[in-house]
Amino acid sequence: MKISINKNDVDNIKTDAVIIPFFEDSNNLTGSILKIDKIIDNKIASLVKTKNITGKEKEIVVIHNFSKIKTNYIICAGLGKIKDITYNTVRKSSGNIIRVLEKLKCKDVVWLTNLEYNQKTDTAKMAQALIEGAVMGSYIFTKFKTDKKAVRSSSVNKISISTPDLKNTSKIIKSAEKGLIMGQAVNMARDLENTPANRLTPFDFMNITKDIFQTKSDISIDIIDRKKAESLGMEAFLGVARGSIQEPYMVILKYQPVKNQKSLWLVGKGVTFDAGGISIKPSKKMGDMKADMSGAASVLAAMQVISELKPEKNIVAIMPLTENLPSGSAQLPGDIVKAMNGKTIEIVNTDAEGRLIMADAICYAVKNQAEEIIDIATLTGACTVALGHSAAGIMGNKQVNINKMTDVSHFTGDRVWQLPLYDDYLDYLESDSADIKNCTETGGAGTVTAGKFLEQFIDTTPWMHMDIASVMDYSKTDGYAVKGMSGYGVRNIVEYILLS
Ligand code: BES
Ligand code: MG
Ligand code: ZN
Repeated sequence: MKISINKNDVDNIKTDAVIIPFFEDSNNLTGSILKIDKIIDNKIASLVKTKNITGKEKEIVVIHNFSKIKTNYIICAGLGKIKDITYNTVRKSSGNIIRVLEKLKCKDVVWLTNLEYNQKTDTAKMAQALIEGAVMGSYIFTKFKTDKKAVRSSSVNKISISTPDLKNTSKIIKSAEKGLIMGQAVNMARDLENTPANRLTPFDFMNITKDIFQTKSDISIDIIDRKKAESLGMEAFLGVARGSIQEPYMVILKYQPVKNQKSLWLVGKGVTFDAGGISIKPSKKMGDMKADMSGAASVLAAMQVISELKPEKNIVAIMPLTENLPSGSAQLPGDIVKAMNGKTIEIVNTDAEGRLIMADAICYAVKNQAEEIIDIATLTGACTVALGHSAAGIMGNKQVNINKMTDVSHFTGDRVWQLPLYDDYLDYLESDSADIKNCTETGGAGTVTAGKFLEQFIDTTPWMHMDIASVMDYSKTDGYAVKGMSGYGVRNIVEYILLS
């Protein structure tokens, strides 16, 4: 997709559609909007007068059939109250509008905008949000549809952002392009998450990673296969893999542009299918567990952005990949495994597998002198009990970092909400036979006890854990959310890295 920035110049417009923002609390037609309206015989003004255009959030009014202006459509996009507008208002709006533009078969569009809607928003970041929303909102998953009619073909391939302020053009363009890279990365994560387990085994995931990163000179790939994992003492990881005939892998991506400096490690849960193992899950919605590798997908997608934006910071991603299935060779409840750091774990429930594979991946990061660890995982159904589908859970051992991630989430719209890691929660994991058990049996505090479990493998490294089970998927298409898997967390991770 091509992006350009133009100064508002409606006289010479030649495009498929012009998008105009409207507000509930300021509907005076001024500047370029007034200019356009004059050319189209005050159509907009009369629609405002009859309250067909009110500026309410999500309102989209399409006007067409013009002779004196060279555009097929004028689209009036409601953004709510100007004083309340946030980056996410614009991101959601452009997500909705892009699908209207596609229905109208528009390819080349001009987005009239102010970009600086109120004092709380920054011009360049607003351009980023607008493009992100458009790219994420246009997402479709049709890889496995053979009926060509189901495949939405023509998509918008040129967006010109038209703004009265051309002071920071290069900064705005850079930011809009960042939005494009971000949006595309989120869509890439969504593709991986939506792909079913028979088309995305741990081996497939590893090969996709190689395909994407092998040609990138500043990223190196390491693979820990079963044999290597055995020699490293990763019994917690390998125990989960025992039920499956698919080979498990830990895939490591290293981006280390700064010599002699430690790295920030990203750890992403990559269970390509979670049937629960011997503690098998009920069949209702079990198919969703194809996306139990969403943590790994978001880490992979974040590395894709990193490789494009090239920050001056060392970043390593580690993705433990396996299936969790029941079989004659599967791990059994009551088993005891030893993690890479020597801690023994009693397996109370084989469905609490994510924390087991994450534990060994975290141990590996700690052993390799991680400066900081961020882990992301679809870890507990309990996270939805706590937060519904409106936020991911976040916890960790360094408050300033959690605050920073929370700030970032206010910009991205991928909300995180902190849960506590009180010492008491460790008691919930006390085992009679091993150092710790893999989950609590009392029923409460499912998400924080999982976090508490992971904390036992962290040592003193600054760490935060994001449980994205609650936000793994969207139940309907709305704004930049598209029904299906969400690609949650990609933008949080990248923005956090870019801040440090
Ligand atoms: N992958 C699941 C968690 C999950 C549930 C993710 C729903 C997305 C949507 C995880 O491995 C799991 O099974 N967790 C158990 C833990 C329990 C056995 C302590 C759960 O949440 O039930
Ligand atoms: Mg499970
Ligand atoms: Zn799982």
